[in-house]
Amino acid sequence: MKLSTKLVRLGTETAFEVLAKAKKLESQGKKIIHLEIGEPDFETPDHIKSAAKKALDDGYTHYGPSPGLMEVREVIADHQSSVHGKKISPENVIITPGAKPIMFFSIMALIDQGDEVIYPNPGFPIYESMINYVGGKAVPVQLKEERGFNADVDQIESLISSKTKLIILNSPNNPCGSVMDKDDIRRIAKIASGNDIVILTDEVYKDLYFDDVHESVFDFDGMENRVIILDGFSKSYAMTGWRLGYGVFPNEMVEPVSRLITNSVSCTSSFSQIAAIAALTGSQDSVGQMLEEFKIRSDIVVEGLNQIKGVSCISPKGAFYAFPNIKDTGYSSQQLSDLLLENGVALLPGTSFGKFGEGYLRLSFANSRENIKQALDIMKKVLE
Ligand SMILES: Cc1ncc(COP(=O)(O)O)c(C=O)c1O
Repeated sequence: MKLSTKLVRLGTETAFEVLAKAKKLESQGKKIIHLEIGEPDFETPDHIKSAAKKALDDGYTHYGPSPGLMEVREVIADHQSSVHGKKISPENVIITPGAKPIMFFSIMALIDQGDEVIYPNPGFPIYESMINYVGGKAVPVQLKEERGFNADVDQIESLISSKTKLIILNSPNNPCGSVMDKDDIRRIAKIASGNDIVILTDEVYKDLYFDDVHESVFDFDGMENRVIILDGFSKSYAMTGWRLGYGVFPNEMVEPVSRLITNSVSCTSSFSQIAAIAALTGSQDSVGQMLEEFKIRSDIVVEGLNQIKGVSCISPKGAFYAFPNIKDTGYSSQQLSDLLLENGVALLPGTSFGKFGEGYLRLSFANSRENIKQALDIMKKVLE
């Protein structure tokens, strides 16, 4: 069979591959501590599950409109209006099966052959994968450890060319746990406006800041005409398997993106969407509890990592990932993650998030404190 040549350019998310390898080892009787996958180890809150069960009984079992059910788009628009302090219309909200398709559809809708996209590296691997797939030019901006894993805005500015069409931002960041500074965001907003560039701001971890408050490029004057907000329910409400996310789009993009949805998934599961209303309008206690637990685990992880020879780790400021520097261990990221998997700890090499991830590992703290401590003990033993 002769597959499309474009497919060669399509990357992947190695977290799923490492998970498969780890599961295989487990099926052979090996005990593995999972620190590879980016999903909260909490249950979806009961009131959200109940809303979905009721929705099934109420007949939300059919196709719905491609951009989503209007009553759900309204609730999301209210929520996003309060997050951003500006009125967002439900017409600008498009619901998708998970937030990931917002990357897919935005990049498909905007990028032609040769168009340039500036994106964070290390960063979520699907950005680079999709840019390459559609024939765009992926222009990485390095998130440097000495800047707390934040981009240097001067560098972003220097990477802009007449072909730059899109800048992707992600704060809090996966895999680094970094959060962007308001002044940097303001400068990026100005650069985008001055050069007629669209911004895709991935805010899927916006409810998971350890200390700071959420800042968004959308909030600056006039940015609603050139910013796409990507958000969803997977992380904040432990709903990864529900496949429920959304984008807030500038007017001009709403119809084309809805058409992409009609051409691909048709619509998002109707009863999942109804559950989203319960998530956003019901008690937010579970979000706070999860965040508190992630903070505690973050301290355990950082303290433990900094006691291992050859490893150093700065404290993440949000999300649920640590991104330790392993350059002094003498191993490459891939070698060390393979070695740790053999010893019962599944985590990801920094290179799963792009070339600037070499010399780092990503640990997700979506596991119990006990298991995290055990994994750190194993790492210490392996490296000493
Ligand atoms: C930075 C970032 N954006 C988006 C997503 C997509 O989340 P989902 O498709 O589960 O809503 C993830 C998931 O890991 C992520 O880490």
